[in-house]
Amino acid sequence: MIGVFDSGIGGLTVVRAVKHHLPDYDILYFGDTARTPYGTKSRETVIRYAIEDAELLLQKGAQMLVVACNTASSIATKTLKERFDVPILEVISPAVKMAVSDPKRRRVGVIGTRATVNSGVYEDKIKAVRPEMKVYGEPCPLLVPLVEEGWLKKGETRKIVKKYLHPLKSKQIDILILGCTHYPLLKEIIQAKIGKRVKVIDSSEALSNSVTEFLRQNPDVDSRLKKNGTCQFYVSDVTDQFQKIAKAILRTVVTLEHVEL
Ligand code: DGL
Repeated sequence: MIGVFDSGIGGLTVVRAVKHHLPDYDILYFGDTARTPYGTKSRETVIRYAIEDAELLLQKGAQMLVVACNTASSIATKTLKERFDVPILEVISPAVKMAVSDPKRRRVGVIGTRATVNSGVYEDKIKAVRPEMKVYGEPCPLLVPLVEEGWLKKGETRKIVKKYLHPLKSKQIDILILGCTHYPLLKEIIQAKIGKRVKVIDSSEALSNSVTEFLRQNPDVDSRLKKNGTCQFYVSDVTDQFQKIAKAILRTVVTLEHVEL
């Protein structure tokens, strides 16, 4: 089974994308809804939580791990790879790969949680491939609660998006990375506010492409994965609001199963 984890329910955008490309693969999802958000926590805490999330999915039978959460990917990937002997795919590298692939574009904006932007991981990875690229990060901490409130199309949300994107617009970026699980749900507003000439990279799409590619290149891993098209959703806290967001993301009612960490 493919284990996918996130700090909460936002990582279902990754499940949605993976399901779209690999509908037959069995997926185990864990959303750490009791301890969300991770984006405001210290490095030590995010690493500890990510280890516990991974352990839970492995105990439940995951044979590979997909870190949907940008914050956990930015901060905890190295520790997870050292600690667990299963393939681990994170969300940063696939988005970076897309960003560096167009030689005509060289000014990148990255939006995400404070922890992700402050980690500088997108900039380091982009510059390792194309040092001439300019990378500008902008933390957008209010966007996660707005999405969780279901304010996807409200005027207030548009105004806040516009305000957050203003500094990136004035830097004349030509690529914008959506470096947070929740932002794909605001993609239309973000594209409208940043302008249609800017290429917007949805990190959940990029990650699901990389999962597909990884399985194609690693038939030994692929052949061991179950393919009955099932999806199980575990969370550390169940509320009506989480159920609602899950439905908005997956466009179907899902049963969230409570687990204690
Ligand atoms: N899942 C987190 C991320 O992608 C956003 C929510 C949080 O701060 O935990 O960075």
